[in-house]
Amino acid sequence: MSDDELNDSEMGTRSQSRDRSTEIALSVDSVTKTFKIHSERASSLKQFIASGGRNRYEEFTALNGVSLDVKVGEAVGIIGHNGSGKSTLLKCMAKILTPKSGTITVNKRMAALLELGAGFHPELSGRDNVFLNAAILGMARQEIALRFDEIVRFSGLEQFIDAPVKTYSSGMYVRLAFAVAINVDPELLLIDEILAVGDVTFQQRCMEKFVEFREQGRTLVLVTHDTSSVRHFCDRAIWLDKGVIRTEGRPADVIDEYTEYMLGSEEGADGSSRRGDGKIHVDKVDILVDGNRVDRIRTGDDVTFRLHFEADEPVPNPVFTITLARLDGIGVTAPSSRDADAVPKQISGKGHVDISMADIPLMPGPYVVHTAVTGWGLKHIYDHLHHARTFDVMAGDSAETNGLVTLRPTWSWTGDGVSPDIELG
Ligand SMILES: Nc1ncnc2c1ncn2[C@@H]1O[C@H](COP(=O)(O)OP(=O)(O)OP(=O)(O)O)[C@@H](O)[C@H]1O
Ligand SMILES: [Mg+2]
Repeated sequence: MSDDELNDSEMGTRSQSRDRSTEIALSVDSVTKTFKIHSERASSLKQFIASGGRNRYEEFTALNGVSLDVKVGEAVGIIGHNGSGKSTLLKCMAKILTPKSGTITVNKRMAALLELGAGFHPELSGRDNVFLNAAILGMARQEIALRFDEIVRFSGLEQFIDAPVKTYSSGMYVRLAFAVAINVDPELLLIDEILAVGDVTFQQRCMEKFVEFREQGRTLVLVTHDTSSVRHFCDRAIWLDKGVIRTEGRPADVIDEYTEYMLGSEEGADGSSRRGDGKIHVDKVDILVDGNRVDRIRTGDDVTFRLHFEADEPVPNPVFTITLARLDGIGVTAPSSRDADAVPKQISGKGHVDISMADIPLMPGPYVVHTAVTGWGLKHIYDHLHHARTFDVMAGDSAETNGLVTLRPTWSWTGDGVSPDIELG
């Protein structure tokens, strides 16, 4: 080692460490993937004959010459619109799909948590799927046999392991996939939008696993619509747009660019992006639990949304509104300060307003916050900030998994034939 190198490594900067960080875990080289889709144009017999029977399908290009390298120990987040090719890319990486052209090289032991059902054969039993899935992930049959009991135990699906997977609930599907993925002891883990599904404890377990994974210096490729988890978990973000990489780089930069683009592209459709005369504007939204700023809350937490604002000139009777929506766009609630009779006579300068919600009933999932500041009549818009921030809800005190919110139901039974003993589990 030369003196220079010694100095470099003493400095301990990432870019200068010579070994681990330059080793490639996964390499995608000019990958193109097309799907055959039924052609409308050749739907008539005449057209079919005219085309010589060849044009029954059209090719749709889902990935178009995608190249990227993932280094050992790196966490890479892939973001992009619906249909931009994220899942397709991950499936190609996981060898579930074969690209039309290009190559994918995997240098590390890989496991994948793909889109619901991908990698599973619905007609086969859970047992057969474990063997199939683990084999795809590169495990020898004997090795799987050795770990089989542990996989089943981990999944909690002992009773159902010989039933065909098509009879599983989405939560059961995911548990099985998770159990296999974790138990092949991967050095490289591919994850597709896993936070959107799964049962109550599942997201929590995933989060814990991600953190553990990162700490152990393992490699992670994460596909998600939740930019906040990319911001917090990933070293690098890649924005996939219509099958090509549009930008890659530091998560904060890529996400900002992506968000800006999303806002711009949505403008007109639902009046999104920042609008208004800006006399008063919301600059930041913090989420507080027990006085701490957080990105993640749990069902049942007492949560405060803190809107930091600034008024460039005195503004009379400004009405603040905060909208909470799930990331897929479904609105949950949109309280305003006017509803609450909490409108100051005037605001100037900087400040913040706290909107506190006790025992928040949101079900687990990714959410987004929009804010608006209007005049008393709600017509004059000072500031309308679409997509002010995102946050995650993790499973908390409720065992419910369906829907947007828990309304904290209670159950009571009546009837001659109803045994009072409630069977648990
Ligand atoms: N098996 C298939 N047959 C035909 N078209 C497909 C198939 N799988 C994916 N596609 C198409 O390829 C494109 C990319 O799909 P993909 O699922 O990779 O998108 P995505 O980025 O994961 O989207 P989302 O954010 O909604 O999960 C879409 O237009 C989709 O309709
Ligand atoms: Mg997808």
